[in-house]
Amino acid sequence: MRTIGIIGAMELEVETLISSLTEKEELSFSKRKFYKGKLNGKNVVIARCGVGKVNAALTVQMMVDKFNITDIINTGVAGSLNEKIDIGDIVLATGAVYHDMEAVAFGYERGQVPQMDIFEFPTAKELVDLAEKACLKVNPDIKVYKGRIASGDQFIADKETKNTIKNYFSPLCVEMEGAAMAHAAYVNGINCLIIRAISDKADDSAEMDYPTFEKEAAIHSARMVMEMMNNL
Ligand code: ADE
Repeated sequence: MRTIGIIGAMELEVETLISSLTEKEELSFSKRKFYKGKLNGKNVVIARCGVGKVNAALTVQMMVDKFNITDIINTGVAGSLNEKIDIGDIVLATGAVYHDMEAVAFGYERGQVPQMDIFEFPTAKELVDLAEKACLKVNPDIKVYKGRIASGDQFIADKETKNTIKNYFSPLCVEMEGAAMAHAAYVNGINCLIIRAISDKADDSAEMDYPTFEKEAAIHSARMVMEMMNNL
């Protein structure tokens, strides 16, 4: 049987999922709390990882080492980098790149991790398709998009940086953890899914829109993840 790791960014969303756990156990490792149990009958372990790529990758690695997870689902919010995609819409990553990885001086393309055999870290198509179906069922009023996301240790809140990332990587949205999780999943040979609700447009209005939207996003993603558990 699979064990699904769920890493959420938002307190409310993680709380909702944790309160739905049966056979719940709380464990702590390296200043991090993990909640193990069953969600709709499926083996899961849930955690909040904190902000940024290092927090993201180390939490995935801990879930692999301590709980033997076979799949990792990451939920959170993101800034839109595509005019079509509005606040409230959901993006499912088909792959993830680092927008802040740069070793151009050594002949690598911007975003390429030196000596890595791939440029874009993949996600699992099976999980992306399941998530799309779940979203259409439980959040029918929300639009879902599939495509590349870009991650970096930077909250994007100005047009110039936004346009630079758009020009280099053409991602649907930008956030701060997804690529690190997909990277850790790739190295460990486990499945990865990244679900991001759009909270802002990654421009001068980003700081204002973000807190307003976070609560709604948390509710939508918790609902989606619960529904996905029925079909895994
Ligand atoms: N997460 C949500 N909005 C974001 C933004 N504008 N930049 C980076 N991460 C985000």
